[in-house]
Amino acid sequence: MRCDLRGKVALVTGAAGAIGSSIARRLSDNGAAVVVADINGEGASQVADGLSNAMACATDIRDTASVDSTIAAIMQRYGRLDILVNNAGVNTLAHRVTIDEFPPEEWDRITGIDLDGLYIMSRAALAPMLGAGKGGRVVNIASVVGLAAMRLQSPFVAAKAGIIHLTRSMAIELGAKGILTNAIAPGSVMTALTAKLFYGEDGKFAGRTQEFLAHVPLGRPAEPQEIAETVLFLASPAASYINGQILAVDGGWTAGYMM
Ligand SMILES: NC(=O)c1ccc[n+]([C@@H]2O[C@H](COP(=O)([O-])OP(=O)(O)OC[C@H]3O[C@@H](n4cnc5c(N)ncnc54)[C@H](O)[C@@H]3O)[C@@H](O)[C@H]2O)c1
Repeated sequence: MRCDLRGKVALVTGAAGAIGSSIARRLSDNGAAVVVADINGEGASQVADGLSNAMACATDIRDTASVDSTIAAIMQRYGRLDILVNNAGVNTLAHRVTIDEFPPEEWDRITGIDLDGLYIMSRAALAPMLGAGKGGRVVNIASVVGLAAMRLQSPFVAAKAGIIHLTRSMAIELGAKGILTNAIAPGSVMTALTAKLFYGEDGKFAGRTQEFLAHVPLGRPAEPQEIAETVLFLASPAASYINGQILAVDGGWTAGYMM
């Protein structure tokens, strides 16, 4: 879709990553000034360099001081903030184990970024949005595992479920002030990392991957642009009466059983 986001300032966290960079590009292509925030400052700079009106920020969403300095930098450069996309997130790679064996440090790392970090960033970013009194949009990137659990990734599942209900809580708190909050629950997305870990880099889905994809009516993972397009919609004037909703972008995976 195309929409006119000229004059709007959007902050995207985790924007050096696969989905975040695609979101940053899509918002930029539609006229928004984009703040490309990521703990990977070099990666953020590379993404921002490819956009027409963007600023890179090395931001750790777990760290209140880091987040506050990002918001201060945005206010200094643009004087406003209209759209917050809470996209930064991590999952466990090394510890695919059941809850009774799950290491506490890894639990803290994942929930600390995925859930606490989203709160820390939202709290800081909402201050100028509310202060300006011109409304705004928040789009939280959750996951289908927040709707229906998967095994062997309990902190990720818990954090994403937390994001889903936090989205509803934010929507009812902020809606009267003109700030609309929604979440996207992506299914499986094809990225460099998921290609390496799971899908294979040859574009052919084999073995276990094919078994998994048999449960997805569309028979394929999403492309990052398909998540970015949904963010653009939720940030656009077209979504002016949508608040507190969770939009699964999962090819129908969570719609029912493929028997
Ligand atoms: N890829 C998928 O299949 C999939 C599926 C469902 C949901 N998601 C969600 O989409 C979002 C983006 O995922 P992705 O696949 O692009 O992953 P990615 O690893 O490519 O990108 C995540 C980005 O977050 C950044 N990040 C990590 N910790 C941070 C911190 N403390 N502060 C700021 N930035 C930090 C990383 O540096 C990275 O650039 C995540 O929230 C993820 O949970 C992804």
